[in-house]
Amino acid sequence: MKIPVVAANWKMYKTPRECMDFVEKLRKKTLDREKATVILFVPYTSLFDMGSSLGNDSSIGLGAQNVYWEQEGAFTGEVSTGMLLACGAQWVIVGHSERRTLFGESDEDVRRKATAALKDGLSVIFCLGESLDERERGETGVVIERQVSSFLSGLGRDDLRNVIFAYEPIWAIGTGLNATPAQVAESHGLIRDVVEASIEGMGEALTVLYGGSVNHGNCRGLSEVREVDGFLIGSASLDVDQFASIVETITEVKSK
Ligand code: PGA
Repeated sequence: MKIPVVAANWKMYKTPRECMDFVEKLRKKTLDREKATVILFVPYTSLFDMGSSLGNDSSIGLGAQNVYWEQEGAFTGEVSTGMLLACGAQWVIVGHSERRTLFGESDEDVRRKATAALKDGLSVIFCLGESLDERERGETGVVIERQVSSFLSGLGRDDLRNVIFAYEPIWAIGTGLNATPAQVAESHGLIRDVVEASIEGMGEALTVLYGGSVNHGNCRGLSEVREVDGFLIGSASLDVDQFASIVETITEVKSK
């Protein structure tokens, strides 16, 4: 049985002090750490403090929301894999739709970031998903295939063991309008098929999260989708009570 993964993407929210407060409160919750993996994707500015605080606590994973593929150099404003690792991060998100749409990241940029991260020992959450226009034009499948195929080029079976996929339709992110369980099941199935066609035996083994307006109200229905292995959560992850209640719900559903 796969252990569900619940990841918080805090985006450009929370000061270092606020991040530390969240962790202190989360630690007091009686979550079953054996039955769910929790990962916090915090702003760069909080990574060092969080890494020092979580040092010995392997039950909460720590990640960054972005990375650059070069090791060092004249790249003003960028942060390397080595810098993230030195702060205690084990994870990094690549390909989030806000990076793609607001900051112009291409499939090729996403692939380069993932390749560098995996090579240097970070695990990766790879985000993908279609826009509303693409869905309405009936192109969801084509977009998913393109994004997954581009991501996989150059990666092997061993790399994929350190990758989690996150299906996040752009129209569902931050809108309050989550994808339906049926839409999620279909897209997750397609992601698995594309991976399986490229690397035999990996389709089913893959961990695939759903992201896009997940909250304590809709998480039970989404958890019941067999193809869903967990969530990547934005706004509902900012509140520790709501975040913990989502972790509890999916843990309960997936333990049945
Ligand atoms: P949301 O964000 O939960 O606020 O929709 C999800 C994400 O961007 O990862």
